[in-house]
Amino acid sequence: MQKIRLTSLSHGSGCGCKIGRKDLSFIIDNLPEVTDPDIIVGTSTADDAAVYRIDDKRALVQTVDFFTPVVDDPYDFGQIAAANAISDIYAMGGRPLFALSILAFPINTLPQSILKEILKGGINKAREAGIEIIGGHSIDDMEPKYGLCVTGIVDQDKVVRNDRAQPGDVLILTKPIGTGIVSKAIKSGIASEADVKEAVRIMSFLNKGASEAMVYAGIKAATDVTGFGLLGHLYGMLKASKVGARIRASSVPTIQGVWNYAEKGCIPEGTKNNLKWVKEKAIWDSSTSPETKYILTDAQTSGGLLISCPVDRKERFLNLLDKNDCISIAEIGEIVDDQENRIWIV
Ligand code: CO
Ligand code: CO
Repeated sequence: MQKIRLTSLSHGSGCGCKIGRKDLSFIIDNLPEVTDPDIIVGTSTADDAAVYRIDDKRALVQTVDFFTPVVDDPYDFGQIAAANAISDIYAMGGRPLFALSILAFPINTLPQSILKEILKGGINKAREAGIEIIGGHSIDDMEPKYGLCVTGIVDQDKVVRNDRAQPGDVLILTKPIGTGIVSKAIKSGIASEADVKEAVRIMSFLNKGASEAMVYAGIKAATDVTGFGLLGHLYGMLKASKVGARIRASSVPTIQGVWNYAEKGCIPEGTKNNLKWVKEKAIWDSSTSPETKYILTDAQTSGGLLISCPVDRKERFLNLLDKNDCISIAEIGEIVDDQENRIWIV
């Protein structure tokens, strides 16, 4: 039997199939405002997850995330989709409690063994995060899709939000970027085995250690880097916090193989849209290459946490990150005072 390449069945891939910021803000801007007084984090700041008060001390954190195959191996796809969905709980400083799965699968045309592998990958990744998947919903669909709805819990005074970044804060990123470009290379069939392996390792890595270190250090502002790319998610945080930022492009860690694929023109549609979207806010150094621009706005799947850390907590936080399980710890820039939420890339 011929091996089925999952990425060949999807129109986009991973978080790159997100609806773009432009369309999304148009849709959301026209929805009625949320008013329940128990909502701690709602729709107004476009944060990673919803936070809802349940008693005097605690709040529920809830998120849902699913997408089309980003790699060809079904088990890896399941792992990555689960790690990505749980990440939004971690980005809010929460602890996941349990999850439900969301699944679309061409049940009459693809072997069920593939579906089993996807689910197994998801279950094992959820267990690594200390939770179980206790139900879900599935539909018959030509294009496979998988993800989770995750419920978590957080102490109200420990919620980490995207609207608390302060001028002077240091920006710390906990995973290298470029997985969107590598995924495009996988879909095009030109990615090397070693590069695929490394991309899978990074995308399926849980942001648990980084999140726990962040909460322990008393940090208040963060987001995770997914479909809108590093600069897109940074901009989301700047807008919500009413500040600007300066990024040192050379300090941003990149995934193995990404420069090679970017130079070959392997740029996902989602990444191109992201670059257009940040155009008015990004102030590029005149020497910045087109590849650098694409990589800094590359649509990530299951990226790292982007943390805005007050200078006086930095040393303690970096020590905690170092002790916890983390892929990379990079200081990539700082928050500056700017009402127009601009990003200077140097
Ligand atoms: Co997120
Ligand atoms: Co998400």
